[in-house]
Amino acid sequence: MRIDECRRSRILKREAAVRDANRFVTTMKQLYIHTIGCQMNVYDSGQIAALLVPLGYRLTSQLASADLIVVNTCAIRAKAEQKVFSFLGRLAALKRRRKTLRIAVGGCVAQQQGAAILARQPCVDLVFGTQALQRLPRLVAAVEAGARRLTDTETAAATQIDGRFPAVARGGAPSRFVTVMRGCDNYCTYCVVPYVRGREASRPPEHILSEINAMVVDGAREVTLLGQNVNSYGLKEGWCSFAELLARVNAVEGLSRIRFTTSHPKDLSDALIAAFRDLGKVCPHLHLPVQSGADRILKKMNRRYTRDGYLRKIERIRRMVPEIALTTDIIVGFPGEGRADFEKTLDLVRTVQYDALFAFIYSDRPQAPAARFAEKISEEEKKDRLRQVLDLQEGITRRKNEALVGTTQTLLVEGTSKRKDAPGDESGLVQYHGRTPTNRIVHFPAPVDAGLQPVLVPGLLVEVRIEGAYAHSLRGRLLSIQAPLKRAKGGTCHAA
Ligand code: SAH
Ligand code: SF4
Ligand code: F3S
Repeated sequence: MRIDECRRSRILKREAAVRDANRFVTTMKQLYIHTIGCQMNVYDSGQIAALLVPLGYRLTSQLASADLIVVNTCAIRAKAEQKVFSFLGRLAALKRRRKTLRIAVGGCVAQQQGAAILARQPCVDLVFGTQALQRLPRLVAAVEAGARRLTDTETAAATQIDGRFPAVARGGAPSRFVTVMRGCDNYCTYCVVPYVRGREASRPPEHILSEINAMVVDGAREVTLLGQNVNSYGLKEGWCSFAELLARVNAVEGLSRIRFTTSHPKDLSDALIAAFRDLGKVCPHLHLPVQSGADRILKKMNRRYTRDGYLRKIERIRRMVPEIALTTDIIVGFPGEGRADFEKTLDLVRTVQYDALFAFIYSDRPQAPAARFAEKISEEEKKDRLRQVLDLQEGITRRKNEALVGTTQTLLVEGTSKRKDAPGDESGLVQYHGRTPTNRIVHFPAPVDAGLQPVLVPGLLVEVRIEGAYAHSLRGRLLSIQAPLKRAKGGTCHAA
């Protein structure tokens, strides 16, 4: 009898706690973040969400129920900028229906255009630049208190940044981004990044490591370290080198995989190449943007390497790390790019045999010097060149994917895709997806448990046999859960 009473009282207490929690959740303000642009913007959006928690905001995926909408913008190409203004157009209509809605614009277009955004789109309450993140809580509080049409695009004269970013809980997501440095000092002539992100500045290694440790406690198994040119990490500040930082991250217990992006070819060091070979958690995938295969164009782009120098580096990497996957970025239709120059780019793609590539149509950016270069290429010609690069690469990727059929791959499980209702023994299975160390996506079926819940959780390492190859992914069959642990040389042995 007493036990029953105890149990009843416990149940009542729990129900009251749930009611309180629900009341708390429904009284919290709803924050919707729309992110355009690169992984650094994705990372910054996480920071924005964390910075606004103390003001009583929680993230919502429902645009219509938001009290505050933050648009985190990208200025890299004209198309990215157009996306910002077309989204703001939608928000203006929403705000006409709901006067209490507040709208803030951050990121690279905010930095670039500042108050001009307010003039162009009157629905916007706040514009905050790329160096105003830490001031965001104050700015949002001012908007809540009635301030209208605020702009903060101030940039610090000092190149040092406060590297103690707020911790972001992502409820067990296995793969996370960590910005290790901000800004860029390279001034490639087509690129807006140095103007909108400011001078290059690195975070102290201790801050990076404590953030990664916290992420591992929150369920992360893979981190991707981010910077516009990670090779120059810490050089200005006299912190450790990037290769040394990788060694320290490699020693984080509970972490299974490390990736990073981006490396500038001119600064790629032997020490960094050796990290792929010697540090067990560093995945064998290097993104090394070449942009063009013609020396004349590389010079006009201010890339500060030659085609031969780039190809020599590729040879060296492949000699030291034969299993490495290589990817790149290419710009087609840079001002003055003649037919012969473009042929050299195609020829370089054929020579290197990348695992994948991103190709972009050159786009004038008003602050970047190339916007004022003569001999612009027609839109039609640029589109045709883009198609040629993509077609060439598609054949290469497909052949490389086909060569993997029959091999065994270790995947980090990322999640489930749609329910599979295939005939035969696969009916009732769930489709999972995960990535190989070389960053290829593999889909594979696995069973559900008695409660029809997936048996594999994101973050597990599994082994699959590759059975099918497509243009952009692979299909596998599950061989074992908890793949044998890869021993981290110079670090600790890691569990998934
Ligand atoms: N810091 C990285 C890349 C940053 S931007 C690096 O140096 O590789 C990502 C890619 O966008 C670039 O590699 C380039 O291929 C492309 N890009 C940058 N500016 C561009 C422009 N004005 N037009 C078209 N593509 C551009
Ligand atoms: Fe832009 Fe060049 Fe810096 Fe990359 S290295 S962000 S392309 S200026
Ligand atoms: Fe775009 Fe800014 Fe990233 S311009 S690519 S969001 S650094």
